[in-house]
Amino acid sequence: MASAQIVYASMTGNTQEMAETIEDTLIDLGVDTTLTEMTQAVASDFEQADICIIAAYTYSDGGPGLLPDEADGFFEDLEELDLSGKVYGVCGSGDTFYDDFAVAVDMFDKAFAKTGAKRATDLLKINLAPETDEDFDKLDKFAQDLVSAVQ
Ligand SMILES: Cc1cc2nc3c(=O)[nH]c(=O)nc-3n(C[C@H](O)[C@H](O)[C@H](O)COP(=O)(O)O)c2cc1C
Repeated sequence: MASAQIVYASMTGNTQEMAETIEDTLIDLGVDTTLTEMTQAVASDFEQADICIIAAYTYSDGGPGLLPDEADGFFEDLEELDLSGKVYGVCGSGDTFYDDFAVAVDMFDKAFAKTGAKRATDLLKINLAPETDEDFDKLDKFAQDLVSAVQ
C-alpha cells in the first residue's frame, strides 16, 4: 500500500480544510495517510512516505518573509533532504487581495525540487477557504494525480 505524509500550516483553518479534504481523498483511494500540523512535524518525516504533501498559507508581515512562522526551521531542513524516488505536491490558501497571492506554495515547491522528489500534480492555490465544487474538484484531482504517479 502506498503511503502519504501531509504536513500543513494553518492559522485560521482554511489550509487545514484543504489538507483534510486531500487526506479524505487519499484514504478513499487506499493510501496509508498521515496528517501532521507543521509545528508537530520534522521535515525528515517525509523520508518514510511515498507521497509528500505540504499545505501552507502565505503571510506577509511587512518584511521579506512570506512563509508561515510555523515553517521556521522546517523549510530549511526540507531543502537539505534527499527525497529522490518520491513524488510531491504543494497547495495552500492565500487571499487574492495580496499581490503575492499564495506564494508560500511556490516557495515550498522550490524547496521540494531541491530534494530530488518529482512533482506529480499542479501547484494548487485556493482563495481563502475551499467552498465551491470547483475548489473541491481541484483538491480531489490533486490527490488523485499523486496516487496515479505512484501506482
Ligand atoms: C497579516 C496577514 C498577511 C497576509 N499576507 C498574505 C500574502 O502576502 N499573500 C496571500 O496570498 N495571503 C496573505 N494573507 C491571507 C492568508 O494567507 C489567508 O487568509 C489564508 O486563507 C490563511 O490561511 P489559514 O486559514 O490556513 O491560516 C495574509 C493574511 C494576514 C492576516
